[in-house]
Amino acid sequence: MKALVVAGARPNFMKVAPILEQLQCAGAERVFVHTGQHYDVSMSEAFFRDLELPAPDFYLGVGSGSHAKQTARVMEAFEPVLVESKPDWVVLVGDVNSTLACALVAAKLRQSLGCRVAHVEAGLRSNDWNMPEEVNRVLTDRVSDLLLTPSHDAVPNLLREGIAPERMVFVGNVMIDSLMKQLPAARALNMAARVGVEGKPFVLATLHRPSNVDDRRQLGEILEGLAAISREATVVLPLHPRTRDRIKEFGFESLSESLSILEPLGYREMLGLLDAAAVTITDSGGVQEESTVLGVPCATLRETTERPVTITEGTNRLAEWPLTSERIVSAYRAAMADGRKQVGERVPDGWDGRAAERVVRALMSQPAYDPAAS
Ligand code: UD1
Repeated sequence: MKALVVAGARPNFMKVAPILEQLQCAGAERVFVHTGQHYDVSMSEAFFRDLELPAPDFYLGVGSGSHAKQTARVMEAFEPVLVESKPDWVVLVGDVNSTLACALVAAKLRQSLGCRVAHVEAGLRSNDWNMPEEVNRVLTDRVSDLLLTPSHDAVPNLLREGIAPERMVFVGNVMIDSLMKQLPAARALNMAARVGVEGKPFVLATLHRPSNVDDRRQLGEILEGLAAISREATVVLPLHPRTRDRIKEFGFESLSESLSILEPLGYREMLGLLDAAAVTITDSGGVQEESTVLGVPCATLRETTERPVTITEGTNRLAEWPLTSERIVSAYRAAMADGRKQVGERVPDGWDGRAAERVVRALMSQPAYDPAAS
């Protein structure tokens, strides 16, 4: 079996690392493509180092741009790579623009190349069509042959969209494979001491969703909320480039003065800091999942989540909507009152560090490509 695996942006790297490793263990032929949607050392290279990722066989270098430009650039650059590689499977993870772009290319070459598309993290839905990721999720799932689900709640979402149950395989959460593998090394970094919060309860915040940071009023409320929290506990905020640019553009530097602002962190650094935090406040999907496994109470600054199991079976809560600085403080206090849990104390099914094994098993056990079936 030959599998072509795609990564493009920061949240993809921890998902592809265990899949690439398990493909190698299974003796499968693998091709690794990095689209270059994220390209800064801190957004890309640091993750290759921390996750021990192999160098990509193809680097597409697409970079930043509007959604249309970025998606189109990935499509144009990916098509010849796919034609040259002729894999049995194109393995796509997550919900970023690179995911959808490669899904569209592969779906249209399916018949001529005999390749099929497998989507890892299929079936998550926020039902918020203003999120670019929701568009990417729904359309990627629609054109995929094999839908590899991370949690059981994904199945009714896919059934509602008319996807046949025979195309779905429950595999669990591949991101947790990386978390479990890297946790000892992350702890050894002693990140709390490195950022000067050792022995003190601190809050780790992350913020990058366009709906939160590109809107002046919304970003102002969030920074005011974090500033109010910083009077009770140190707030550490590793800053995504998008958020850094907006703070500057809106002239919000004074609002962020009381926060402990860091450059974007590598995978192990972020994991080490999250593991040491009393509470996390985030708008990231990945942090909601990682904090659940680590037992860190999480307050999510979003109206909805495509990962409801982190609430029903984990440590997550949504801040009351619409967001105000007071509501952010309330969500923080409620999370703080919940207190830390043990690592793995409340974890959804299949978030066990062995999801990538199940991904590779699912790929290898599918019947051979049948053009009449697609
Ligand atoms: C993308 C994903 C989002 C994911 C996030 C994680 C889509 C639609 N969105 O959003 O789902 O949660 O990645 O970070 O795919 N930039 C840099 N250096 C980089 C990359 C980006 O400075 O290495 C800056 C650029 O100004 C760029 C902006 O960040 O325009 C946004 O990058 P982009 O990849 O378009 O979207 P993200 O907001 O990162």
